[in-house]
Amino acid sequence: MTREDYQQRIEQFLESKLDAGFTHNSSSSKLDEAMRYTALGGGKRVRPLLVYATGEALGINADLLDLPAAAIELIHAYSLVHDDLPSMDDDALRRGKPTAHIAFDEATAILAGDALQTMAFQLLSNPMQEICAENQLKILNILATASGADGMVKGQGIDLAAVGKSLSEAELETMHNHKTGALITASVEMATYCMETAAEANSEIIVKQRKNLTEYSKAIGLAFQVRDDILDIQSDTETLGKQQGADIAAGKPTYPSIMGMSAAKEKLFNLNKKALDSLIDFGEEADSLREIASFIVKRIA
Ligand code: IPE
Ligand code: IPE
Ligand code: MG
Ligand code: MG
Ligand code: MG
Repeated sequence: MTREDYQQRIEQFLESKLDAGFTHNSSSSKLDEAMRYTALGGGKRVRPLLVYATGEALGINADLLDLPAAAIELIHAYSLVHDDLPSMDDDALRRGKPTAHIAFDEATAILAGDALQTMAFQLLSNPMQEICAENQLKILNILATASGADGMVKGQGIDLAAVGKSLSEAELETMHNHKTGALITASVEMATYCMETAAEANSEIIVKQRKNLTEYSKAIGLAFQVRDDILDIQSDTETLGKQQGADIAAGKPTYPSIMGMSAAKEKLFNLNKKALDSLIDFGEEADSLREIASFIVKRIA
């Protein structure tokens, strides 16, 4: 399947889960609308794509991957809604549309974020037919760990504390690995547990492949945020669908601001190489993962 096929697949799957009345109310509430507004009809869907592409690399049926793919995208969508709040990055534009707190109001945006987050765990904790309970629990644990105070939220905390400050390269890397890398790594790792038995998921071959796939995901996770930092300077608001120059305006330390633009681009090049090297043991079944790596370093939005 192509990138567009998977994007369509996850859109339809999310749509089916967020369809009008999913909270069993007779009419759609403002909160329901805000959830649909922020989760549907936009975004590159990179994290679900990674779930499906990892599944391809391991020969896992895509039907088993829809729920983890949806769950990670819901967590990501929630993180964006909260990231844009006035008390955080205070941004007015996201995915080419007014941010949730502008389109609705701040309280609704906070609640929509909360509800998208819990919905991810609600979806993923329903009994699964083709994945054993032990693997399902592991998948849930990966998502929870990557989302919270050891993962994305930790990174967001570092980000806010760093406003107006200069960080060392190591500190910047830690921030990026958490705020952005954690969900990207979780996308890949969750997929490696989408198997019927724990014995299969813990087999020697899968453990080795998981190690290489995790290396790949760490490299592209950091690359994703380095590219995001570069685009904040080099792209424009219309292409990005979010305000260009927002990092500089807010005094955020970024790769280009700390290392300079050419060193940031070199870092990106090296991370792409590292990602591809990590896939050396895979054949063409990992081509989708390779394509995602080059998309991440070359993307313009
Ligand atoms: C934006 O993520 C926030 C970062 C982690 C840099 P994306 O660039 O994946 O946003 P969408 O989902 O495509 O809008
Ligand atoms: C966002 O980082 C990371 C998360 C939302 C977790 P940014 O603040 O750089 O993302 P954008 O640039 O607003 O999309
Ligand atoms: Mg931010
Ligand atoms: Mg932001
Ligand atoms: Mg950014």
